Amino acid sequence: MTRKYQHPTDEERAHFPEHGWLKVENVIDPKYIEECMADLWPRLGYDPEDKSTWKETYIKLPRHREVPTHQLCPDAWNKMVEIVGGDDKIDPVRERHYGDQFVINFGNEYWKSQEELPTEAKGWHTDNDWYRQFLDCSGNALAIICCFTDIPARDGGTLVADDGIPGVCQYLHDHPGGLDSPFEDTLYTHIPSCKKFTTIEAKAGDLITHGLLPHTLSQNHLHYARVITNPHVNLVEPFNLSREDGDYTLCEQVILRALSREYIPEYKPTRPRLEHYPRTAFFKRARVAEELQRMVEAAKAKGLDPSSVDSIYLKGAAAMQEHGKRYGYDKEYGPGGVFKWETGDKFENIVPSSRQMVV
Ligand SMILES: [Fe+2]
Repeated sequence: MTRKYQHPTDEERAHFPEHGWLKVENVIDPKYIEECMADLWPRLGYDPEDKSTWKETYIKLPRHREVPTHQLCPDAWNKMVEIVGGDDKIDPVRERHYGDQFVINFGNEYWKSQEELPTEAKGWHTDNDWYRQFLDCSGNALAIICCFTDIPARDGGTLVADDGIPGVCQYLHDHPGGLDSPFEDTLYTHIPSCKKFTTIEAKAGDLITHGLLPHTLSQNHLHYARVITNPHVNLVEPFNLSREDGDYTLCEQVILRALSREYIPEYKPTRPRLEHYPRTAFFKRARVAEELQRMVEAAKAKGLDPSSVDSIYLKGAAAMQEHGKRYGYDKEYGPGGVFKWETGDKFENIVPSSRQMVV
């Protein structure tokens, strides 16, 4: 039976397989944007009016609050569900809630007057730091960019390589043993030779979806805080790349199109599938205690009781356990360990001997 679509338009259904991404405008409930943004600056410990306090050019924060995705952006959620093949194909627990794990691109004085070509950009990746990556992995069926601020031109929107998907898919096809993160040095080496780049421009409330599309940050030449979150849609089963009836989901069509194939029966992973603790969560969660302290101080400064601070990390063990399952914090560290961040570009791969304790 041929798939039926109610929510993605004909234009969107054509755009997604061709480009690997889709922009959906004005779909995030402004109420949630306002609530989540209310304590952005206390969390950062920066003064919004004094850019000399903006210590980092780019920063990723942990999550304190979350809401079911179908409440945050119901119209977009309906499209996402159909793009991946149906609600029953989506993991019932993992990343069903989106929240305030902000990714902020501040820019700096240097980049106000400097340019960077897309082919010179560093940090190309796809979001897959919590599982062994095979061609048919659907843990990151969709990577979502939720825009919490406007992203005008030159304001550091996500940079994507539209024609970077075939190189990623071909490498994964040719390496059925899969890749354990970190693998940035192998899977994205073709990106500097790509020709079709897009720098995302959007309004607060917009949402952009993409899957195996390589992306990185573009430089923020305006030196204003660009705020997004970057959650995902995780599926229960791997993509099916050999459907006898050819009735592929839009996500699967991206891969088949990239490889110029109608089905890929020869592809079989040769190592076990593996899920593990998300590598980048380690350094984000390391910020939690200091953020909470600043959130409490900010509440007191407003004459509010510290108990008014809203954070998953203050809701007790049962809430934390549930939250942990949603993001794989209950899983063991993977073969590549985790990512520790100091400041600026200083990252270090480490393999901690004990579980991460937060707060
Ligand atoms: Fe990413």
